[in-house]
Amino acid sequence: MMHAIATTLVLSFCLLHPTTSSAQPLSNISSCLLSNGVRNFSLPASASYVTLLNSSIQNLRFALPEIGKPVTVVIPNSKVDLQRVILCAQNSSLAIRVRSGGHSYEGLSYTTENHVPFGVIDLMNLNRVQIDSATRTAWVESGATLGELYYAIGQSNQSLAFSGGSCSTVGIGGFVSGGGFGLISRKFALAADNVLDAILMDPNGNALDRGSMGDDVFWAMRGGGGGNWGVVYAWKFQLVHVPNNITVFILDRTGPVEHIAKLMHKWQFVGPYLPDEFYLSVYIPTGTSNGNVSMSFTGQVLGPKRFAMSVLHHTFPELSLAESDLSEMSWVESTARFAGLNSVVDLTNRQLGSKQYSKSKSDYVRSPISMQDTIKIIQYLSNGPRGFIQLDPYGGAMARLESSKIPFPHRAGNLYSIQYGVSWQASQNDHADEFIGWLRSFYAYMAPYVSKDPRAAYVNYLDLDLGTNNWMNATDGTSDNSVVHARSWGRRYFLKNFDRLVRAKTKIDPGNVFNNAQSIPPLQY
Ligand SMILES: Cc1cc2nc3c(=O)[nH]c(=O)nc-3n(C[C@H](O)[C@H](O)[C@H](O)COP(=O)(O)OP(=O)(O)OC[C@H]3O[C@@H](n4cnc5c(N)ncnc54)[C@H](O)[C@@H]3O)c2cc1C
Ligand SMILES: *[C@@H]1O[C@H](CO)[C@@H](O)[C@H](O)[C@H]1NC(C)=O
Ligand SMILES: *[C@@H]1O[C@H](CO)[C@@H](O)[C@H](O)[C@H]1NC(C)=O
Ligand SMILES: *[C@@H]1O[C@H](CO)[C@@H](O)[C@H](O)[C@H]1NC(C)=O
Ligand SMILES: *[C@@H]1O[C@H](CO)[C@@H](O)[C@H](O)[C@H]1NC(C)=O
Ligand SMILES: *[C@@H]1O[C@H](CO)[C@@H](O)[C@H](O)[C@H]1NC(C)=O
Ligand SMILES: *[C@@H]1O[C@H](CO)[C@@H](O)[C@H](O)[C@H]1NC(C)=O
Ligand SMILES: *[C@@H]1O[C@H](CO)[C@@H](O)[C@H](O)[C@H]1NC(C)=O
Ligand SMILES: *[C@@H]1O[C@H](CO)[C@@H](O)[C@H](O)[C@H]1NC(C)=O
Repeated sequence: MMHAIATTLVLSFCLLHPTTSSAQPLSNISSCLLSNGVRNFSLPASASYVTLLNSSIQNLRFALPEIGKPVTVVIPNSKVDLQRVILCAQNSSLAIRVRSGGHSYEGLSYTTENHVPFGVIDLMNLNRVQIDSATRTAWVESGATLGELYYAIGQSNQSLAFSGGSCSTVGIGGFVSGGGFGLISRKFALAADNVLDAILMDPNGNALDRGSMGDDVFWAMRGGGGGNWGVVYAWKFQLVHVPNNITVFILDRTGPVEHIAKLMHKWQFVGPYLPDEFYLSVYIPTGTSNGNVSMSFTGQVLGPKRFAMSVLHHTFPELSLAESDLSEMSWVESTARFAGLNSVVDLTNRQLGSKQYSKSKSDYVRSPISMQDTIKIIQYLSNGPRGFIQLDPYGGAMARLESSKIPFPHRAGNLYSIQYGVSWQASQNDHADEFIGWLRSFYAYMAPYVSKDPRAAYVNYLDLDLGTNNWMNATDGTSDNSVVHARSWGRRYFLKNFDRLVRAKTKIDPGNVFNNAQSIPPLQY
């Protein structure tokens, strides 16, 4: 099956994407899959196709009819199936898109740019979780969701946890590939910082572990972004020790702009500096009600209520925290609470959560925004349509790890990240451009207050506004120029780590089989 690809590379150093070659496909995808024993796949003519394709599309902008659809959706049931799909897709000249939880902000796990024919490999059936509580480790298949992992951990031992995010339907595959920030990251760092080993399927369908893939690739796959290195079949995670009972709270506050600005301003001097056991984030939606603005604080403390009270009473009296605002529960119960679920069992439900049309962007703040500017920002925000900002505190373990330990570089010196979002329902689709336009103008407005040269961003909050590859017409047709082009946004996600990612890419996937609109390009020798 490598025949067509090898020819392409030898004859022309400029074509990075094998499927752009004019060579005839060696096979038809359905016959290739069937002859290799892969039975669970769906073609556009089949009744199940749309339901299956839609099933984990989280951002409905990318489910609209005008968005190009895959030639097939394949659901591997085993590691061997996965290997065969990777080979068949290449024999059939299909680009590959890998999907775990489908939460890519830009739909990159189930779309292609430029109408390239493609197949989706959906890992929903590769969702096994194996906990070893004696060694505090877990082997987890990439198609598991965060909720499925949390549930399995909770079943095994109430004092074990995994450093992951709050939305239970996010897939392990994409989440860990991009770093993975969550409520215990100030204590235990990112999900990707807790990866001990992994099994990566390369373009030839070889299953490589940490030892056989080499240091650069094992480094790159822990935060260098999904869809770049191959398909991660499974991960071995370090689980962490947490108290049997922890403390959680969600506080809503409302008031005039100045009042909300005062709370946000003060938070900048508290959130990033609290003891590592504390997570205290800020969420501020757009809009006003009778001239008042609202905000909410989400808190989690790895300790009892009295610890939470004494520290926050002292460091943040303006919060007016009352003991009755706090609840104690196990860590796994807290994950269900923060995911907005009624019970721990719902963590295993992959279909919960409301789907919307959305657009997001991100920033990092390195020095506190003044009170005067905070007021202006809250004013700007309050006039916006259907949006929000979420401020996630860094510091703690996030600041203690080296920026080059894994590709995720946003460590010491970052006080907090900002996530900007707008979201809407189908009935408001006529206003989509207006909503997205507002988000972009707010982002432009924020430039003076956030990181510069480059203005940094978080790869899991993927944002195609920062720039895109064009594999159909790679810049000037040379891979060197593709790398220069990709560096323009790549350094915003990865800072100085970008060039090592290019080296890792060149090693593991020199033919650029695993590509997407913002993937890392390989260099050719
Ligand atoms: C509601 C919501 C909440 C979120 N909360 C957080 C949060 O708290 N913290 C945080 O850090 N991020 C958060 N994110 C961002 C999230 O981490 C990313 O969108 C992540 O990429 C989603 O992973 P996925 O598997 O669900 O997505 P997918 O769309 O399936 O995949 C995302 C990317 O990874 C690739 N990929 C998927 N699986 C594999 C695999 N096995 N091997 C190789 N590549 C793969 C895909 O091709 C795609 O490019 C959130 C997103 C949403 C929508
Ligand atoms: C791909 O095509 C090559 C050449 O025809 C063939 O040898 C190989 O078995 C095919 N691979 C699969 C998975 O069918
Ligand atoms: C593969 O072959 C089948 C049956 O011959 C046909 O229905 C299908 O359209 C073909 N698929 C592609 C992608 O060419
Ligand atoms: C394919 O996988 C889906 C999702 O798990 C499942 O519902 C379906 O029964 C499977 N079909 C076959 C033929 O294995
Ligand atoms: C798939 O999603 C699109 C966009 O939301 C919608 O129009 C379509 O009805 C959905 N199809 C199914 C079968 O759910
Ligand atoms: C649960 O894990 C903790 C370490 O985090 C360990 O001390 C304890 O013995 C474990 N309990 C069981 C029942 O395995
Ligand atoms: C605005 O919020 C304040 C609390 O800060 C409250 O006292 C006041 O009643 C609110 N005004 C309206 C109109 O809701
Ligand atoms: C955990 O907290 C709950 C609620 O406060 C309490 O009922 C329970 O006894 C606590 N459990 C432990 C082990 O401390
Ligand atoms: C490819 O890029 C070149 C240079 O930017 C441009 O002139 C040309 O029109 C592009 N071709 C296509 C098919 O997009």
